[in-house]
Amino acid sequence: MGWNPPEKRQELFNSLGRFILLSPVNKPDEVAGYSAFRFEHEAEEDILYCYELQINPLHQRKGLGRFLMNLLEVIGRRTKMQKIMLTVLDNNLAANKFYKQISFQLDECSPTYEDLDNGNDTDNENDTEKVDVDYQILSKLLT
Ligand SMILES: CC(C)(COP(=O)(O)OP(=O)(O)OC[C@H]1O[C@@H](n2cnc3c(N)ncnc32)[C@H](O)[C@@H]1OP(=O)(O)O)[C@@H](O)C(=O)NCCC(=O)NCCS
Repeated sequence: MGWNPPEKRQELFNSLGRFILLSPVNKPDEVAGYSAFRFEHEAEEDILYCYELQINPLHQRKGLGRFLMNLLEVIGRRTKMQKIMLTVLDNNLAANKFYKQISFQLDECSPTYEDLDNGNDTDNENDTEKVDVDYQILSKLLT
């Protein structure tokens, strides 16, 4: 996707953006991790879209990522969202393992969803167009 600072800044400071920041108790100015998310309405569904989940490398593998995603679930349920969605790059193996561990699944709007769906259907002549992307859209139902 490439790194585009102006685009990223625009995404972060979008007026619909919401954040949760975690700081160590004794270091309130330090950020141990954060999540950026938005409430969205897409394809007739109310969605909590997680735009960012970042845990400072010093604090990884201590359960903070799981904790933040649990908070998003609680917020999503209380605000009657139908699901949490997010995008993850294929080459981010750690994040892919993490999301699998906390029960996120390939969303039906992920470009690769049809590939998976038709995986065993090799006789189907219409099944020739494989989608060439390097990311997946994952989701977890809240209802
Ligand atoms: C991916 C990330 C959010 C995980 O957060 P974390 O706080 O380190 O993860 P947790 O401690 O909550 O891990 C929960 C479980 O997920 C799995 N997991 C997490 N990180 C993993 C890794 N690097 N490799 C394999 N499994 C991993 C494990 O099963 C882990 O349980 P365990 O530690 O008991 O084995 C964090 O590594 C991170 O911020 N990475 C850089 C930014 C990033 O990639 N963000 C996601 C973008 S989509």
